[in-house]
Amino acid sequence: MYKLFFRLVFRRMDPERAHHAAFRWIRLAARVPVLRTLAAAALAPRHKELRTEALGLRMHGPFGLAAGFDKNAVAIDGMAMLGFDHVEIGTVTGEPQPGNPKRRLFRLVADRALINRMGFNNEGSAAVAARLAARRPVFRTTVGVNIGKTKAVPEAEAVADYVKSTERLAAHADYLVVNVSSPNTPGLRDLQATESLRPLLTAVREAADRTVTVRRVPLLVKIAPDLADEDVDAVADLAVELGLDGVIATNTTIAREGLGLRSAPGLVAETGGLSGAPLKERSLEVLSRLYARVGDRITLVGVGGVENAEDAWQRILAGATLVQGYSAFVYEGPFYARAVHRGLAARLAASPYATLAEAVGAETRKKADR
Ligand SMILES: Cc1cc2nc3c(=O)[nH]c(=O)nc-3n(C[C@H](O)[C@H](O)[C@H](O)COP(=O)(O)O)c2cc1C
Repeated sequence: MYKLFFRLVFRRMDPERAHHAAFRWIRLAARVPVLRTLAAAALAPRHKELRTEALGLRMHGPFGLAAGFDKNAVAIDGMAMLGFDHVEIGTVTGEPQPGNPKRRLFRLVADRALINRMGFNNEGSAAVAARLAARRPVFRTTVGVNIGKTKAVPEAEAVADYVKSTERLAAHADYLVVNVSSPNTPGLRDLQATESLRPLLTAVREAADRTVTVRRVPLLVKIAPDLADEDVDAVADLAVELGLDGVIATNTTIAREGLGLRSAPGLVAETGGLSGAPLKERSLEVLSRLYARVGDRITLVGVGGVENAEDAWQRILAGATLVQGYSAFVYEGPFYARAVHRGLAARLAASPYATLAEAVGAETRKKADR
């Protein structure tokens, strides 16, 4: 049904317009009590065995919405209604900014992929913090807040920009993510080098602790799939050394591997970050590498090309406690999160593991023993 609707309606629309149209419908539905209750009853995770403890938080299930879909925190309940058990809002930057000129989002339907060069279009940390402060949640959802650098801020002042966002947003975040991996802000990914990352993460940690004294806000870093393997190891070691709570692997890629024959060359040549199916293999590889390095010392979040329950299960076996998706939601529609959670429950039941927690990293551990 959704696939037909997608073919007949969304596919003919500009992708960014389609996104806003779908978003409006989701927000509208979430405002109607009967509708949202019915939708959530049908779509939200209800399997006891999927209950997950991660980052010191209790969740109904491990699957959530990746950053970038709800940049300004306007549809958290709407996304929860659709069965995403955690919603990562943002990327929010210190100051508001319009992002890159349009067109900046492209659908590669035949490859089940997207290319985007949105460039952190968002209302900025002050406006988003005010919205989160005024929010009266309908559903009990975990809210992650993903922060990034304002484009106009010089790289030498990046830390201060992240600190500003942290001071404004940490109190409203169940967890906080330092995004240093989007390819569409010049220089951003250079912050992944440990000499830049160490002072940045230390400053954000201190700012979060200064601002929120009643609890410790979990802090994660989100990395790119384009890092060389040694750099993945270096980030993993740094995360452990700094007592970080988690690593999110991965953001979109600037590579174009696994693409090209099915989608029009003009589309493939668009600059920006590639997401969806072609990202699957590398994201999984980075995740397994991280788990092999850090084990259970920090929480890993697997994202990139997760299209269905099998993909999510593979991420869990590779080492992810939490799993996220974005691009496949565009192609699969409103039943995406439910399908992932249901399929995970079935896979767990058919597996030798008694709990999801037991399954986390099982495959990577097995490989290490071989
Ligand atoms: C249109 C679009 C916008 C995105 N914006 C952000 C963002 O603002 N911050 C971020 O950390 N990741 C952003 N991402 C990356 C996703 O969160 C995710 O890491 C990536 O798309 C891989 O997952 P997927 O293959 O399930 O889409 C964006 C992705 C897309 C497609």
